[in-house]
Amino acid sequence: MDISEIREKIEKILQEAKEQVSAGNPELNEQLKSKYLGRKGELSQIMRSIGQLDYHLRPEVGKLANYAKQKLEEIFSTAGKVRKPIERRFDPTLPGRSLPVGGMHPLKRVLRESIEIFVSMGFSVVGGPEIETDYYNFDALNTPEDHPARDIQDTFYIKKPEWLLRTQTSPVQIRVMESQSPPVKIIAPGRCYRKDAIDATHYYAFTQIEGLYVDRDVTLADLKGILTGYGKKIIGEDTEIRFRPHFFPFTEPSVEYDFSCPSCHGTGCRICKGSGWFEISGAGMVSPKVLRTVGYDPNVFQGYAWGMGVERITMVKYGIEDIRLLFENDLAFLEQF
Ligand code: DAH
Repeated sequence: MDISEIREKIEKILQEAKEQVSAGNPELNEQLKSKYLGRKGELSQIMRSIGQLDYHLRPEVGKLANYAKQKLEEIFSTAGKVRKPIERRFDPTLPGRSLPVGGMHPLKRVLRESIEIFVSMGFSVVGGPEIETDYYNFDALNTPEDHPARDIQDTFYIKKPEWLLRTQTSPVQIRVMESQSPPVKIIAPGRCYRKDAIDATHYYAFTQIEGLYVDRDVTLADLKGILTGYGKKIIGEDTEIRFRPHFFPFTEPSVEYDFSCPSCHGTGCRICKGSGWFEISGAGMVSPKVLRTVGYDPNVFQGYAWGMGVERITMVKYGIEDIRLLFENDLAFLEQF
């Protein structure tokens, strides 16, 4: 035999051994092992034949044979390992792997708590469309086409002049009053939209809770009582409410109302930037014009109404200084609640 024949033979042995070895058949592997590696095995024959080779070929063939022996041993030992299935034991006493649990978004939490508070005061909850008509969002609320109040509530128009994204939840007042006669005692929570430039206190979408109570003998004092009660529940027992004169086309008189700062109770501190109060939103007595629009007799019925910004209340409650944090879905922020 010359050296290339021996090399070929060794390659063939390795190839065959690899192909024949079977992970699932230990007896067969034992047989193969002695066929290739045993004393009478094919490799031993090659080893034995070294002595008959030319003196100068012997080292090289010796090396090849050793290499083959090593490889064969590897082949059989890995087959052996695969053969033994790894024992996987199930330990029922180990505690389960805990899955990450989400939390409720602070805005949703305040929204839900607020709804609960008003429901406990006898208000029922109604919804209304976010895509509104000019009529419900403005005209019926005593804000005709050329009214300057439309300028500060510019919005996204879907099809001018009729369809738009509502700028306030107040149109729900009209829809409800059109569909039922007094007494009416509802809240209307939901999303509103405005074409505002985004900054720390403005966003193009936000949440309001509208309130409306129409009955005989309803006064501004009732409104003050309801909103104070709400403030105490949602922010804290010592919350006070303050009315400031304001203008809305659909209320007369109109007010803006503030909640006292939860950390200084109205004396002024760093959190409320020295003012002692936080602006919440608008309210007032429903304008006789609006009552007439929906077919109510203003000589018999009066009503109060309010709109509140839920983002604003959430920010006051939790000391959040930038409204954008409520929309960014940053876990580092959200996990604090
Ligand atoms: N809709 C007003 C706004 O978004 C807030 C408002 C003011 C609502 C007075 C009312 C109200 O119901 O009576 O600016």
